[in-house]
Amino acid sequence: MLTLTVDKHAKPKFLHIASAIRSAIKQGQVSASEALPSARQLAEQLHTNRHTIMAAYQELIAQGWVESIERQGYKVVESFPVESSRHTKANIEANKSTFKWPLTPLILDVHRGKPAHEYRYNFAGGNPDISAFPFHELKPFMSDCLTRPDLPHLSYGNNAGNQQFISQVATYLRRARSITDKDIITVNGSQEALYLISRVLLKLGAKVAVESLGYRPAWNAFKTAGAELVAIKQHSKGIDIDHLTQLVKNQDISLIYLTPLHQYPTTVTLPIHERIKIYQLAARYNVAIIEDDYDHEFHYASQPLAPLAADDPKGLVIYVATFSKIMFPGCRIGYMAVDKSLTQALINYRSVMNHKPNVLMQDAIGRWMKDGAFERHLRRTTKQYQQRRDHLVSALKNYQEQGLDISFTVPDGGMAIWLDVKKNAKELEQFGLANDVYLVSESSFHLAQKNNQNRYIRLGFAGMKPEQLTLGLAKLFDYFSQ
Ligand SMILES: Cc1ncc(COP(=O)(O)O)c(C=O)c1O
Repeated sequence: MLTLTVDKHAKPKFLHIASAIRSAIKQGQVSASEALPSARQLAEQLHTNRHTIMAAYQELIAQGWVESIERQGYKVVESFPVESSRHTKANIEANKSTFKWPLTPLILDVHRGKPAHEYRYNFAGGNPDISAFPFHELKPFMSDCLTRPDLPHLSYGNNAGNQQFISQVATYLRRARSITDKDIITVNGSQEALYLISRVLLKLGAKVAVESLGYRPAWNAFKTAGAELVAIKQHSKGIDIDHLTQLVKNQDISLIYLTPLHQYPTTVTLPIHERIKIYQLAARYNVAIIEDDYDHEFHYASQPLAPLAADDPKGLVIYVATFSKIMFPGCRIGYMAVDKSLTQALINYRSVMNHKPNVLMQDAIGRWMKDGAFERHLRRTTKQYQQRRDHLVSALKNYQEQGLDISFTVPDGGMAIWLDVKKNAKELEQFGLANDVYLVSESSFHLAQKNNQNRYIRLGFAGMKPEQLTLGLAKLFDYFSQ
């Protein structure tokens, strides 16, 4: 008699019986070519009817485990490799110990603790307030995509992205950021853009100039393509243009990666005259620039400065932007605005990876943008984040007035404050993490660890309501009174 474990209530019953018989064969309760119990016997054993057992056997016959022989009944197939399929524990362990994946190692330097959003107070620098996102406003547009689906776009093809979405982005870029004459390619978040650009533009050993304190996920993309990273020095007002000039003149730089509007992580805004110098330098030496404008809308001191990409007669600037901050990172929608000569190469590369990004999400966002509700959302969020910045600024000033030795420059925009705590910032970070406060300190942002003075922390303010900002800060600053 076979020992079968069958869930009596699971439906459809014959499939569960088939699965139990299959497990019995795998465990070696019956061998190849050996007879199986008749349908009548099994029906009696399992208190079910014969037709259910026959349906189970038919399923196993269709799957190639069992055969039915006239006047003999059912038996396990002859050619069935019973030995190798026996999933005994010893067998599994033995096989595992001899198998190694032929991996190409990619060692990423990323935070490995629990995710930032699981902390009670989350000061992650680029964290939008997802709970405040107007899901109900987006819903009719998503619903519309399903009620009146754009059928041709839901198929393969059109790998640059959904045309309606692209035309909305193009209109928005022209109006809000003065970017014209570029092709738009939708990406699954800016990370995909950075990876694609790296693959298409960087040869093994190519040199990429990056901000010495900067955005590690971008660096990882460049390194994956075999590029060498060269740090551009920074001072309190942003990147050191003289140093960048030296690098471009002397080091055969292929690409410059910058976050000009709100430098990541220090939040400093690169002034117009410095942008012009950088552009002239790149144009003179024919070096491409990636301009990562990840939180453009959130500028409070004035209208956001026009991107480098807005005045790019040579077509050198690859403009990268994301919906991760204005919506939520899980939407995985971003875009690049690139010179027309680069478009096809990028689309071709992406087609090999992933054809194209999720069409429904692009379609819904496109409809949302067309309606105007998107820009209303931006205006609302910008106001809200400005209030949160102001709240955090006044909370920090209070601490200063009480004698705490910290200093900072009020950022013109962005989602974080770069705070000099004049102490070992790594220790403060660790204290925070141990007390349910997530934050990141200076050392995580340095390309060259030897330059790490380890005095700053990055305090994101956009993701928390003012009361939480106050409480989180109090909890963190308990460190100073220990
Ligand atoms: C500098 C920078 N670039 C880009 C992004 C957004 O990346 P993605 O669009 O892949 O979510 C972030 C988010 O933290 C960022 O800080």
